[in-house]
Amino acid sequence: MGKPSKSFSSYMLGTGIVGWVVLVWLSVKGPVYLSWEAGFFLALAVLVGLHPVKLPRGATTTVGFAVDYACLLIFGPAVVAWIGVISFGVLLRRSSWLRKLFNQGQVVLSFAGAGWVYRALGGEYVEGSGWVAFREMELALVGGGVAYFCLSSLLIAIAMALWERRSVGGMWVLSFRWAAPRFLALAPFGLLMAMVYQTPGLGVWAVGLFLVPLVGARFAFQGAMETLELHRETVHALSNALEAYDPYTRNHSELVTRYALALGREMELAAPRMEVLEWACRLHDIGKCRQDWESIITKPGRPSEKEWEVIRRHPVEGSRLAEKMEFLPHTAGKVAQIVRAHHERLDGSGYPDSRRGEEIPLEARILGVADAFEAMTARRAYHQSRSAQEAIEELRRCAGEQFDAKVVETLAALWERGEVEPEAALEQQPAAAGALAGSSVLSSYAAQREAGGGGG
Ligand SMILES: [Fe+2]
Ligand SMILES: [Fe+2]
Repeated sequence: MGKPSKSFSSYMLGTGIVGWVVLVWLSVKGPVYLSWEAGFFLALAVLVGLHPVKLPRGATTTVGFAVDYACLLIFGPAVVAWIGVISFGVLLRRSSWLRKLFNQGQVVLSFAGAGWVYRALGGEYVEGSGWVAFREMELALVGGGVAYFCLSSLLIAIAMALWERRSVGGMWVLSFRWAAPRFLALAPFGLLMAMVYQTPGLGVWAVGLFLVPLVGARFAFQGAMETLELHRETVHALSNALEAYDPYTRNHSELVTRYALALGREMELAAPRMEVLEWACRLHDIGKCRQDWESIITKPGRPSEKEWEVIRRHPVEGSRLAEKMEFLPHTAGKVAQIVRAHHERLDGSGYPDSRRGEEIPLEARILGVADAFEAMTARRAYHQSRSAQEAIEELRRCAGEQFDAKVVETLAALWERGEVEPEAALEQQPAAAGALAGSSVLSSYAAQREAGGGGG
């Protein structure tokens, strides 16, 4: 990864330019319902957007969708697009011009699309009609909200997929699956704001009162996301701590995770499977966490039959631990399966279940190759490390019997291109950050509105 690809930069630039063209077109075509109240909403949008919530994989969002949606219903797409563009200008003032431009483009396109769907389904704007019977426009209201969310999240998912060189669908599922229900739950809130706004005697000042529950919702949202992130960090810390004092395995899981993620990416695993792969790599040897482990593996000579028994049990014990980690959202079962299968061999001579070929999940076959490659190339006290070239030759020798030949060849190709280098591996950034480098960049480019949490 590292440098952004040409297609990523062109996409960012293209979206920005198209967005600005559409904005000019919206402003010329009209109607543009401009009033000082629009300024009030702009201030509200910036205020709400100042503290975005982090989503998985580094994207961020805000509760601003409620404000955006209210603006759309009150002022129509032209004004809300301008509010989006201006608030992004303020909120992303320290970001690069390309990020700013992209976000402005995506927000304009999303609002233009949402406005078009809303109108097509019979929706009207408060400033255009004076008073709108929202109760008779359910379809338009739902359509407009869904169109906005879909467009905005899709445009961002494409950028993230281009950066991380993954599929758009997978990236979307990973980044926005969590956000979708919460995000759409903000729409009724926006509708309520629009209704209050058009009620005689209430108007724009009453809308200001909505800030209180909006801020509350934002903190609840953040709490949920932080818990998720905390779990990820806990597993990371746990696997590092287990290896920190053991010279035989120091950094083992860290490196295995890097190699396996590089393999998974190259083999175009969908993002949710990459997520499972990452958890499984971090946890794969957690079953070794027992008092007598070190004495068994450091003992000179061959292990006794009883000791072999213990060694062969570590995938089973590891998978039991992983299974209990219910915080791994929707993935605990799959992670456990892969941990269990990481010492299986293609010819059925592995352990603990003697599974064969395709019976072994692809993620486990990838993990198996990454695990062996790391073990062979690591500089450890008890054995002379091999060069990457030698390790790959050894893997090739065992391909078909022990290892998946396709995975081995993918590793060889990555190594030839200089994308997998055992020596340099630890000098790079931590694996989690490495795998997410793209999105951490995106997190700032998209700072306030990743999930289309517009209005800032
Ligand atoms: Fe293992
Ligand atoms: Fe291992």
